Amino acid sequence: MRTEFETATENAALKKAIVARIQSQGPIPFRDFMDAALYHPQHGYYRSRREKMGREGDYLTSPEVSAAFGVILARQLHEMWLAMGRPLRFDIVEAGAGTGLLCRDILRWTRDHAPDFHSALAYAIVEVSEPLMERQRDVLAEEGCDVRWSAELPDGIEGCLLSNELLDSFPVHAVCVRGGELTEVFVDWDGSRFVDELRPPSTPEIERYFGRLGLRPGEGCRAEVNLEAPEWMRNAGRSLRRGFVLTLDYGYEAEELYAPWRTDGTLLCFYRHNPSADPYARLGRQDITSHVDFTTLRRAGEEAGLQTLGLVSQSEFLTNLGIAEALAPPAEGNVNLEEYYARRRTVSELLDPAALGRIRVLLQTKAVEAPHLTGLEGPQNA
Ligand SMILES: C[S@@+](CC[C@H](N)C(=O)[O-])C[C@H]1O[C@@H](n2cnc3c(N)ncnc32)[C@H](O)[C@@H]1O
Repeated sequence: MRTEFETATENAALKKAIVARIQSQGPIPFRDFMDAALYHPQHGYYRSRREKMGREGDYLTSPEVSAAFGVILARQLHEMWLAMGRPLRFDIVEAGAGTGLLCRDILRWTRDHAPDFHSALAYAIVEVSEPLMERQRDVLAEEGCDVRWSAELPDGIEGCLLSNELLDSFPVHAVCVRGGELTEVFVDWDGSRFVDELRPPSTPEIERYFGRLGLRPGEGCRAEVNLEAPEWMRNAGRSLRRGFVLTLDYGYEAEELYAPWRTDGTLLCFYRHNPSADPYARLGRQDITSHVDFTTLRRAGEEAGLQTLGLVSQSEFLTNLGIAEALAPPAEGNVNLEEYYARRRTVSELLDPAALGRIRVLLQTKAVEAPHLTGLEGPQNA
C-alpha cells in the first residue's frame, strides 16, 4: 500500500523523517534540509546504492568521463613529489573519491610511468558514503591497489590532499536579501509539499561571512552560503604538514558568485543528467549542489598556514599539463580510429568551457620552497 508520502521517484522514509522534524520543531534552515536530503544516516542520497556519478548515474564528473583526467593529475602529483625533493614517502589523500576511478587512474599511471614515485606513494581515501566506499574497495581491489580508508582527514599529511567536486556537495544555507536585510530560507511543510519561508538568519556566522567579504548579494537576490567548505579548508591546512592542497570544484571568486545580476544563486539538482532548480523534487533520489566561493576558500586555507599558488580553470590546468597529447592523431600503422575518436570526444568534454572545463583548480602549498607547478603556469621556460 502506498503511504501519503510515497512516489516512485522519491524516498518516502526520508520525506517522513524531514516532515516529522518540521512538525516537531518548526521550519528548518534550508541547510538542514539539504544535509538530510544528501546525507541522512539511513535515507540520504549519498547513503543509497543507486548509481550517482557516471553515464549511468545522475551527473558526470571528470574521472568518470575520461581516464586522461587521472593521468594528468598524476603528472602534476609527480611534479609535486620532485619539488619536495623526492621524499621516500608521499601521501596522496583523496577526499570524497566517488567510485574510485581517479585513484585507480593515478595509481596506474604512476606504476607504469614513474615507478620510483609509485613506490613512495601512500594513498588514503577519506569518504563518508558507505556504499561508495564499498564501490571504491571493489574497483581498487581489482587493480591490486594498496589504499587506506578513513572517515576523517588524517593528521600530518606530507604530500598532497586532493579533492574533486567535494566541496560543492556540502549542505548550504540559502539566503535572500529583502529590503536591505539579509534573510535566510527555511523549509516548512504545508501539509502536501515543502515550501520556502524567509526568516532572520539561523546563525550570526552568515552575516559574518559576508562581513569578511565586504559584500552582499544584490537586493532581491537569492544566494547560497557554504559554511562547511571554509571549515573543511582550515582543517585541510592544519592536517597538511608539508606539501600541497589541490582543490577542484565548480565555483567563482566571491565578487562573481555574489554579483548583483546573479538573482537565483547557483543551486542545481541532477537526476539522470537532467538539471533542475527544485531541491524539493525527487527527494533523496537527486543530487543537490551549489558553486563554491573560492575567495573564502582560499583565505580559509591561508588562515591555516597555506600559501596560495594559483587559481585556474580546469581547461587551462589540463592544457598546461599537456592533455593535447591525448588529442593527437594516432601514429601511422597503429590506427584504431574508433578508439581515437572516442578518446578525443571524452577529452574534449574535460576541456569544455561550458561544462567540466570551467571547474576551477585551486593550488595551495605549505613548507615547500617556491615550487613550479606546470598545471598553473605551463611548462617551465616555455
Ligand atoms: C560529487 S561527488 C564527487 C566524487 C568524485 N570526487 C568524482 O569526481 O567523481 C562527492 C563525493 O564526496 C563524498 N563526500 C561528501 N561529503 C564528504 C566529506 N565531508 N568527507 C569526505 N567525503 C565526502 C561523497 O560521498 C562523494 O564521494
